[in-house]
Amino acid sequence: MALRLGDTVPDFKAETTEGSISFHQWLGDKWGVLFSHPKDYTPVCTTELGRVANLKGEFDKRGVKVIGLSVDPLNSHEGWSKDIAETQGTAPNFPLIADHDKKVSDLYDMIHPNANDTLTVRSVFVIGPDKKLKLSMTYPASTGRNFDELLRVIDSLQLTAKHKVATPADWKQGQDVIIAGSVSDDDAKKLFPQGWKTVKPYLRTLPQPK
Ligand code: BEZ
Repeated sequence: MALRLGDTVPDFKAETTEGSISFHQWLGDKWGVLFSHPKDYTPVCTTELGRVANLKGEFDKRGVKVIGLSVDPLNSHEGWSKDIAETQGTAPNFPLIADHDKKVSDLYDMIHPNANDTLTVRSVFVIGPDKKLKLSMTYPASTGRNFDELLRVIDSLQLTAKHKVATPADWKQGQDVIIAGSVSDDDAKKLFPQGWKTVKPYLRTLPQPK
């Protein structure tokens, strides 16, 4: 069955470009991003892996460990990394899982047979420090992902895990947020003594908490 938000993500052992890992142990107490690409030595995937490598500092700043995956073998990942460095400016600086037996792809439902019965789609799983699934996204092979959007949702996930707030459409770090619907006005007075703006009784906004 497909993974659902709030589920504990499956643990697994795998071979990666940075050695063998046990996934939960590798995550430790950090946030994690596990993402698949369909195939090494393909154009969109080359740009995606380069983009993630170039954003490594942004993931680090947020305390997020990133790991990629495809069903290609280790020697393919290693050879392709040189092309990524050459064409995108940075080689992958995060581990890439060689899931040649499709064990992890099956566990995480990353192969969608009606799209392609042997290759993974472009899956993204954001995992919290509690090992629970916080967000998932699925893109087809023909569409490269927007990794700035991934960082944006991680900012929202980390903020809303810490404070009883939600983030509005197109929210970006530093913009106003919404008081969570589960918080009564009485509780909001204690949580947000600086006050808020009531646009509607169900839509209460305030500056982003620090
Ligand atoms: C690509 O990355 O361009 C790609 C990969 C697999 C199938 C189609 C396109």
